[in-house]
Amino acid sequence: MADKNNELSVPCHVGIIMDGNGRWAKKRGLPRKLGHREGAKTFRTITRECKKIGVKYVTYYAFSTENWSRPKDEVDAIMDLFEKYLDEVKDFADENIRLRFIGDRSRLNESLVKKMDEVEKESAGFDGMDCFLAINYGGRDEICHAVKSIAEMVKNGEIDSEQIDEKLIEKNLYTAEAPPVDLIIRPSGEQRLSNFLIWQSAYAEYYFTDILWPDFKPKDLREAVKAYGERNRRFGGV
Ligand code: FPP
Repeated sequence: MADKNNELSVPCHVGIIMDGNGRWAKKRGLPRKLGHREGAKTFRTITRECKKIGVKYVTYYAFSTENWSRPKDEVDAIMDLFEKYLDEVKDFADENIRLRFIGDRSRLNESLVKKMDEVEKESAGFDGMDCFLAINYGGRDEICHAVKSIAEMVKNGEIDSEQIDEKLIEKNLYTAEAPPVDLIIRPSGEQRLSNFLIWQSAYAEYYFTDILWPDFKPKDLREAVKAYGERNRRFGGV
């Protein structure tokens, strides 16, 4: 929720759709994977800036359940980037940033999943800011996953179906430990959510810009946060 006491009204939880890497590369006559490499650099810069301005949670859409339909060499390049990044993740440790992953891990390489587990364990005590990376993530898939877990609880007699409410569903989402999303940022000119945090963004504000993700700079984040601060959030009230 916006903190009105702060000079810059800062969203507690920001969701970012890292879009436009392919077009960034194409504009320069480069292979798409170089766009993703540049996008990974932006991810690091913007995460640091989020912490600097006082964001408490930032969640990035890094790879969707639908992205497997891309050419194999592009999928492989993105997966390699994740692995490489996790090998170098120490810079976030220095900044007390906790890194976690959301999404279905069952389709990911064993070596990548192992690194994800390690990084989560190593950063578990960091409380400067929480950074979630959504990998093989889909909002609908996440809700199916939560529904299955709850159905199991009912089947095992742990709860009665009457006890199913929004809180219980939230507790069974991948983001159980994060508050609802306040601000969604999508660069690259597209204006849609694309199955990202669909439950968590029910009352989020949206900020769209034509800038391609690799070109997105700290000043652009500040611009988005400024626009957020000027919105009038009513949460269904008047
Ligand atoms: C969308 O742009 C981007 C992706 C599907 C991949 C995002 C992944 C990264 C930026 C790598 C992140 C790495 C780390 C370490 C977090 P697009 O390819 O759809 O762009 P386009 O719409 O211009 O084709």
